[in-house]
Amino acid sequence: MRKTNISFYLNGELIERQLDPESRVLDLLRDLLWLTGTKEGCGDGDCGACTITLGYPINNKIKYQAVNSCLLPVGKLQGTSIITIEGIEKENNDLNIIQEAMVEQHGLQCGFCSPGVSMNMFSLLANDEIPSYNDMIIALNGNICRCTGYEGIRNAAKQVLTYLNETPNYDVVPKKIRNIEANLLKMKTDILVDDYLLPNNINSLKTIIKENPEAMIICGCSDISARRHITKESLNKVIDVSRINEMTKIELTRDGLSIGAATSLTDIINNSLCSKNVSALCEGLKEIAAIQVRNLATLAGNIANASPIADGVVLLMALSAKLIIVNKDCKKEILLKDFYKGYKKTVLEEGDVIEKIIIPTSSFNKEYHMEKTAKRNAVDIATVNSCAAFEKDGDKIVKVEIAFGGIAETVKLETLDLNRDIEILARDISLKYNPLSDVRGSSSYRAKLIKNHIIKHFAFINGEL
Ligand SMILES: Cc1cc2nc3c(=O)[nH]c(=O)nc-3n(C[C@H](O)[C@H](O)[C@H](O)COP(=O)(O)OP(=O)(O)OC[C@H]3O[C@@H](n4cnc5c(N)ncnc54)[C@H](O)[C@@H]3O)c2cc1C
Ligand code: FES
Ligand code: FES
Repeated sequence: MRKTNISFYLNGELIERQLDPESRVLDLLRDLLWLTGTKEGCGDGDCGACTITLGYPINNKIKYQAVNSCLLPVGKLQGTSIITIEGIEKENNDLNIIQEAMVEQHGLQCGFCSPGVSMNMFSLLANDEIPSYNDMIIALNGNICRCTGYEGIRNAAKQVLTYLNETPNYDVVPKKIRNIEANLLKMKTDILVDDYLLPNNINSLKTIIKENPEAMIICGCSDISARRHITKESLNKVIDVSRINEMTKIELTRDGLSIGAATSLTDIINNSLCSKNVSALCEGLKEIAAIQVRNLATLAGNIANASPIADGVVLLMALSAKLIIVNKDCKKEILLKDFYKGYKKTVLEEGDVIEKIIIPTSSFNKEYHMEKTAKRNAVDIATVNSCAAFEKDGDKIVKVEIAFGGIAETVKLETLDLNRDIEILARDISLKYNPLSDVRGSSSYRAKLIKNHIIKHFAFINGEL
C-alpha cells in the first residue's frame, strides 16, 4: 500500500508522518518508534500481550478502549490518541497506581504479559465510571498469562479499585494525555486519499465507492487482521467503514431496532435500547472473543465474513434480522436468512456495504436462548452454536425456530415441528445437513450437540436451567 499522511497522538505527543496504513500498530510501536514495552505473543488477537489504549472522540468526549495492537492497522490511528505502557506513568516518572498494584501484589512472573494486563485495566479506568471488580476480571479474559500469575493480577485489580473508590479525585490518565483531549476533538477523522480510505459519512462513502469500485470493504478489521497474520496477504486498496456516522447509530424506528452495522460489539452490549428490547443479543455477543476484540469487531464483519460458526449470525437469524445494504447509487434490503449462498459466499456484490441491521419489533416479544459449545469456556470459537426463538401464546409455546452454526456450510435456521419429540427432531436435522468433521469435532459429535442443544433450549424455556 502507498504511504499516507497520518496524524494521531501517542502518549500525549502529536505524531504526523507518512506511514504504511495497512501495517500493524504493534510493528509501528516496536520497530519504528522503539516503544518495546508493548509485546507480541500470538499476533492474532488471542493473548492480549499487545494491548494498548485507543482514545477516540464520541459525543464531544474522548472514549478510551483497550485494543489489540496486533489487529489494528495504522490507518485506523488517524484522529486518535493512543496510549502505551510507556505513557501511563504519572508526573515525575512515578508509577501509575495500576503498575504499583501489579508490583505490590506480585501480579507478574516473567512479566511478558504484564504490560498488556496493565493497559487493559488502564483502558477501563480511563473513562468516567469506575468499573466493578467483576467487570474488570471479565475484561481480563483477553489477557492470557502463561505463568499462572492470575491470583496476583486479580489482587492488583482489587487494590486499584479500592484505591480509586477511596480517592475519587485521582485520575489514572496522566495530565499530558488529558491536556491534548481538547485538540483531539478538533482533529480530522477521515482519510480521503491514497489506498486506505476512511470516510466518516454515507455521502462520502458513496463517492469513494464510485471512484474505487474494486476496493475491499473493512470495518473493525479484527477478522481480516487475524487472517493476514497467517496469509501475509496485502490489502491493496480498502474502504474502512468503521467511522461512518450513520453506521454507528442505534435507534428505534417504525420497523424495529436499527443497529448501525459498524457499531462495535461492545457498544451494542452496553446500549440501553438493545438491552431493553433484545437483551439476548447483548448477552450472546459477550460470548464473542474478549473485550479487546469486541471493542473493534462489528456485526457487519461477523455477517459478511460468512463463517458457518459466527455467533452474531446465529443470534441475529433467530431474531429474524434483516440487512440494509448500500452501494454507490442504490439501497437494498434482504433477510439475513437469505443472505448466504454457500460456504463463505454471500449475496454481496462489488461495492455493497452492509449499512444497518434491523431487528423487527415482532421479535421483541419472543424468548431467546443461546448455547455455544467450544473447546474453552471463554474466548473461543464454537464447535456448534445455536440460538432458539420461542414464540408463546400465554404459557403455550406456539412456534420454535433455532438457528444452528457449525452443522453446515452456513448458519441454518430450522423451524421445529412441535408434535415430534426431541430425539426425532435432532435426528432429522443431522440427516438433513450431515454435519462436517474437522479439528473441532467429528460429525457424530456435532450430531450429538444438535440434540443436546435442543434439550438445553427446552430446559431453559421450561425454567429448568
Ligand atoms: C481473537 C479473535 C477471536 C474471535 N472470536 C470470535 C467468536 O468467538 N465468535 C465469532 O463469531 N467471531 C469471532 N471472531 C471473528 C471476528 O472478530 C468477528 O467475526 C467480527 O465480528 C468481525 O468484525 P470486523 O468488523 O472486525 O470485521 P472485518 O475484519 O473488518 O471484516 C470481516 C469481513 O467482513 C467484510 N465486511 C466488514 N464490514 C462490512 C460491511 N459493512 N459491509 C460489507 N462487508 C463488510 C470484510 O470485507 C471482511 O470480509 C474472532 C476474531 C478474533 C481475531
Ligand atoms: S499479540 Fe496476542 S493479542 Fe496481539
Ligand atoms: S507473567 Fe509470564 S506470561 Fe504472564
